[in-house]
Amino acid sequence: MIEYCNLSERHEEQILALYKENFKILYGEVYDPEKVKREIQTYQVVVAEQAGRVLGFGVSTDLASGIGYPGVSELTAMRRSLMWAKGTTEKKAKFKTFYEQKAKKQGGKAVTRHYNNKFLRETTEVHPEDFYFSAVAVDKKFQNMGIATEITRRRIEIARQSGATAIFADTRIKSASKHIFQKFRFSLMLLRGPTGDNNEASLLMGKRLRKK
Ligand SMILES: CC(C)(COP(=O)(O)OP(=O)(O)OC[C@H]1O[C@@H](n2cnc3c(N)ncnc32)[C@H](O)[C@@H]1OP(=O)(O)O)[C@@H](O)C(=O)NCCC(=O)NCCS
Repeated sequence: MIEYCNLSERHEEQILALYKENFKILYGEVYDPEKVKREIQTYQVVVAEQAGRVLGFGVSTDLASGIGYPGVSELTAMRRSLMWAKGTTEKKAKFKTFYEQKAKKQGGKAVTRHYNNKFLRETTEVHPEDFYFSAVAVDKKFQNMGIATEITRRRIEIARQSGATAIFADTRIKSASKHIFQKFRFSLMLLRGPTGDNNEASLLMGKRLRKK
């Protein structure tokens, strides 16, 4: 039976090994075990484990604690632009051009049509207690068995219980994790140019949490 639990010391070495296997370049830097160790000890980690073997994990942080994450900084900048652009046609056009040009430089294209949807307007009100989902990985031998889906379900529940009003996540364009976020009704917010280990375009996705 697979158990889902919080990080404890006995998981650390196995999680570091999974990180190393899956993320050779993390946030544009070469994998650094000390940095990753600090990260998993600081943020919230959901671990999937079977008979002492770590099968997968997912890292989450609230936006206030995750201030150093590139994804979180970008989100803050984007939110400011959106708030600034809110309401005026001229400013909206400037916002659109800014992101299109930025993305084009990186070889991608900005998804500005989402600017007009209700979800993104609501996310201009992201709060420090909102959540950001960082890395998720599952041991290759155990992939496609629903483990990351269950980890995601639990991360969403933790965010909801902590009082988050929205969750943001970084993922890649052709990945299983994008597919999983879509299953949980995350919307596409921004498409960036190719980055990371495999030079694949990356995405920022977001989900608004409704109060129960
Ligand atoms: C992403 C990852 C964690 C998914 O773990 P998992 O336990 O295999 O995921 P699940 O079994 O819960 O779900 C996989 C789903 O994605 C689908 N899928 C698998 N590969 C896919 C791909 N390349 N593109 C799109 N969908 C894909 C599966 O069909 C399945 O869909 P379903 O639930 O509708 O049947 C795992 O592939 C992994 O560790 N990848 C390497 C690390 C990584 O890239 N992490 C994400 C970036 S942080």
